[in-house]
Amino acid sequence: MRWLFVTFALIVGLCPSADAREPVRARHAMVGAQEPLATDVGVQVLRDGGNAVDAAIAVGFALAVTHPYAGNLGGGGFMLIRFADGRSTFVDFRERAPEKASRDMYLDTSGKPTRESLEGWRSAGVPGTVRGFELAHRKYGSRKWSGLLEPAIALAEHGFQVSYPLAESLKAARNLSQDPESRRIFQNNGAYFAPGDTLTQPELASTLHRIAQNGVKEFYEGETAQKLSDVMSRKGGLITLSDLKNYSAVERTPLTGSYKGYGIIAAPPPSSGGVGILQMLGMLENSGYQKSGFGSAAEIEYVAEVMRRYYADRSQYLGDPDFGKLRLTSLLDPAYIKRRRDTIDPNHATPSSRILPGLPTGRDGGETTHYNVVDAQGNAVAVTFTLNEGYGNGITVPGLGFLLNDEMDDFAAKPGSPNAFGLIQGEANAIQPGKRPLSSMTPTILTRDGKFFMAVGAPGGSRIISAVLQTILNVVDFGMNAQDAVDAPRIHHQWQPDKLYLEPGISPDTVALLQSRGYDVDHSPGLVLARVEAIVNSGGGLQGGSDGRASGKVAGY
Ligand code: GLY
Repeated sequence: MRWLFVTFALIVGLCPSADAREPVRARHAMVGAQEPLATDVGVQVLRDGGNAVDAAIAVGFALAVTHPYAGNLGGGGFMLIRFADGRSTFVDFRERAPEKASRDMYLDTSGKPTRESLEGWRSAGVPGTVRGFELAHRKYGSRKWSGLLEPAIALAEHGFQVSYPLAESLKAARNLSQDPESRRIFQNNGAYFAPGDTLTQPELASTLHRIAQNGVKEFYEGETAQKLSDVMSRKGGLITLSDLKNYSAVERTPLTGSYKGYGIIAAPPPSSGGVGILQMLGMLENSGYQKSGFGSAAEIEYVAEVMRRYYADRSQYLGDPDFGKLRLTSLLDPAYIKRRRDTIDPNHATPSSRILPGLPTGRDGGETTHYNVVDAQGNAVAVTFTLNEGYGNGITVPGLGFLLNDEMDDFAAKPGSPNAFGLIQGEANAIQPGKRPLSSMTPTILTRDGKFFMAVGAPGGSRIISAVLQTILNVVDFGMNAQDAVDAPRIHHQWQPDKLYLEPGISPDTVALLQSRGYDVDHSPGLVLARVEAIVNSGGGLQGGSDGRASGKVAGY
């Protein structure tokens, strides 16, 4: 599905911008999301007196309507919350493998992984989004549940104007054209939508309306659940009524650490992101890596070597914490992190074959979306949620109007062996009924002097983690404002393949120097390494940056 990502990237002009843009500034509160109408919904909830959790829920439901590429009812994700009083929590509403799932379900008769984890009814995990939003609302929301769904219902029922990027993205989405219901709703039965056309989604509006009226039970036990499980059984899918009834979202304790005096609040497993952020910051702290300057070959090399070492660990050790003990204490042990740093040669690439242990990470292509909300009280929420690939598996549930995820592909179809795309993952991420697949989603919040400092996250598969890291470094170590920090050219190294990815904007001299130091470089002109959203507390107010590689919006007051 890399084609889908590249096509979308080209269509919406997701190229690093050479022109510096000012961040959006606001005194009190701010929302940044990757679709402008959803941002506006969030700002209105805040203006009406809702808190950051209320706004985050309303933005999420709005994205399910206006950003079907990744916003969803049929997927899952993570919500990281840091309250103004210093408490924090993490709502895990990642999809779970259905009860009928089994370890070898995506292997053909010769034992080779098939594409079934990505395509068709059997690729969907049990959706978690509605349950996750309900948990967050029940425990931390302050406004009426139905009111938070109202803007989304209106957008679905009355429609909204299709933007140029959305029109082009819907037209290019091959997975939508393969499903009759998706083709009818999102591609106007093959006539497609032009920019400025109105996209209405009456079936989705009805589903949202029932969820607003009947609450979370509607999705997991009511008419919606019944229709979803009926069609699953007719089409040979796996999700049953009992899977839906038994789905629960979980509150987990965020991982915490520090970097140069900033507090880091990070995503715990089944996200692989928080471990990555803390490990990599740990290797960078006291290394002096930044002294050679942003974008210099020496700086890039050091950061790439740090990435290589974390990503080597990622797939070997991480998975769903409810299905086996993870070695988090060891992975985050400062002595271990120092030992990893000590293996870095600042003048030469370390071949990945010499970095052990570790197995290659998951696929690059995961498409996702991220948004941040900060309210006037100083509560901050960072949400990353997803259908996995753009538009998930491309299947819209008839009569319900929402797309299904293909999150089962985030499991290791055959632990220890390359999957259909040549990638390997570890035993901790093997398929088991009820288990959540390992994720790269990395919503992250930083504090300074006990106050909110930064909320950051991104879509982009395994590149999310390295992109979030670099955005933090850009602000903390290179003094960039929120907009420059998300727009700056990025790099990525994930151990395997042993390749250093460099976005356009990194100077040809630097590229040549890195090659001379032993890096196999991918410097393709259209390369896009994630799309970041960030809000930073500058001391005198909030700054918001929405990645120039995407077409989102930050707004506040
Ligand atoms: N599906 C992308 C991720 O969770 O990493």
